[in-house]
Amino acid sequence: MCGIFGYVGKKTNAAEIVLAGLKRLEYRGYDSWGVAAVSKNKIFVKKKIGKIGSATVEDLPASTLALGHTRWATHGGVTDQNAHPHADCSGTIALIHNGIFENYEEYKVKLLKLGHRFTSDTDTEVIVHLIEEYAQSMPLTDAVEKAFKAMHGLNAIIVLSTKLDTFIAIRNGSPLVLGFSGGENFLASDPAALLPHTKTVYFLGDNEMAIVGSKTAKIRNIQTGKTVRAQKQTLTWDIHQAEKGNYRDFMSKEIHEQSGIIADIAASGTGLAQRIAAHIKKTPHLYLVGCGSASYAAIAGEYLFSKIAGRHANIAIGSEFGYHLDFLTRQSVVIAISQSGETMDILESVKKAKAKGAQIYALVNVLGSTLYREATEKILIGAGPEKSVASTKALTGMLSQLTLLAYALAGKPEEGTLVLTLAAKSVKTVLEKTQDSAIRKLAGKLKHVQHIYTIGRGLSYPAALEAAMKIKEISYIHAEGLAAGELKHGPLALVTRGTPCIAFLPDDETYGANLAGAMEMKARGGFVIGVSHKPHEVFDEYINVQDAGPATIIPNVVVAQLLAYYLTLARGLDPDMPRNLAKSVTVK
Ligand code: F6R
Repeated sequence: MCGIFGYVGKKTNAAEIVLAGLKRLEYRGYDSWGVAAVSKNKIFVKKKIGKIGSATVEDLPASTLALGHTRWATHGGVTDQNAHPHADCSGTIALIHNGIFENYEEYKVKLLKLGHRFTSDTDTEVIVHLIEEYAQSMPLTDAVEKAFKAMHGLNAIIVLSTKLDTFIAIRNGSPLVLGFSGGENFLASDPAALLPHTKTVYFLGDNEMAIVGSKTAKIRNIQTGKTVRAQKQTLTWDIHQAEKGNYRDFMSKEIHEQSGIIADIAASGTGLAQRIAAHIKKTPHLYLVGCGSASYAAIAGEYLFSKIAGRHANIAIGSEFGYHLDFLTRQSVVIAISQSGETMDILESVKKAKAKGAQIYALVNVLGSTLYREATEKILIGAGPEKSVASTKALTGMLSQLTLLAYALAGKPEEGTLVLTLAAKSVKTVLEKTQDSAIRKLAGKLKHVQHIYTIGRGLSYPAALEAAMKIKEISYIHAEGLAAGELKHGPLALVTRGTPCIAFLPDDETYGANLAGAMEMKARGGFVIGVSHKPHEVFDEYINVQDAGPATIIPNVVVAQLLAYYLTLARGLDPDMPRNLAKSVTVK
């Protein structure tokens, strides 16, 4: 949450470079944006509420040092004043921040007494005044370090000053990555934003402070005081993967990439899955943990492991995992599932599990992310950069990797490859013109409804949860995902004439019981949309999905993505940046 981008180098359009970087990061927060540039011993700031859109920074002066921020508001409403960067009283220090300064009030009271003047309601502005205060009696870098050490919470800051031709950046918990490109250096909260400039990066570790100039980057651990030698990494992503190309938006691009990604995962071999399966076999307690859509991948993983390999796994939502800790031991294995690898609820779970001695395996999309680095075993999802806030290809990538793992656990890795190949083909069919237009037409019919219910059993239960999540998240229609058997235990009371119900009915052992759920809806006037390998008279609408065995959940999820997407367009909304949300949830 919150996008950060900084540039220092020989080019004099630093503010424009930063604004372009912010546009690539806008999915991390789009309540407001701001840029600060240093020129002739002055800091010039431009900040505005709303998305960047066609805004420019032409009115900022030529500069070789600039930074910027896109905000997802926590402390203080969405106003121009609360947008970052924030400056000190003298206007000679500017700062951007990601995270929450938990104990800011205590310092704000002290700083007000000392005569500091505040212009915003944010926790962030307190940091810059604290630095200003400390800098009266020590060098600026020491003042930044002292202020950062005073802050409770998980934070990343970057500081600019008229007195320096470098940035000072520190992180603890919130992501920051340095990008190196001969004679110019960059800082960003997400490596995908660096791709137009460089693939050579260093992910700052916790408590590392970087002083970054155009030709140098000095890194020191502020806890140990020791200099850190940056172990540079090369990003494997390509710039085109992070661009919209000819698509209308990132969500449609990412939806359409899926059959290729799944086919690639199927073709990537089963060596890693077999190695990890061999470790998993030895553990008495296996946990699958994720948040949001990744938690549905965890639920699907539980079904896949038990159905295919007869292996039990415990599942937990990231933010709830802290309440399962009593059962963790040194023999436990926790598979933490995350697209970004920066979700705070997941990182906190991992920290707690590690403290109990458990081993952490990461199923993660971003190489070098915090989760990636924390884990002893890593499976890269391989979905490429995901920029739409609503997760699509990363989720089907997670499901694909979990399918391979389940078959490897069962000792039948080739069968996993086969099933995934079928899933890739089935997804391709869903995305073909006829199916696509049928789903678009259906969205046109449903665009004014108030509620949608989605039902499934077994592996279709997480599909139902995901369908409801996608619909509510981007189209703002209330949607609820249910285990079909639960209908009669309460939710049926809400069904009246015309209530839409999406029923996932794959060709497996759940078919008959799922159909019974659809019939219960129909009997009360429900409008039943069947997602299945064959039509049935109970369906008012039918979407065909070719069977792919246990991996049929993957094309089923893609149907749900497309429906949510077209509902969103039909309601005139932006699918990439839904209100109140942001990608990469780095706060608790
Ligand atoms: C839903 C969605 C979120 C994420 C969740 C976890 O479309 O995108 O629910 O799945 O915030 O994010 P990661 O996978 O980055 O940990």
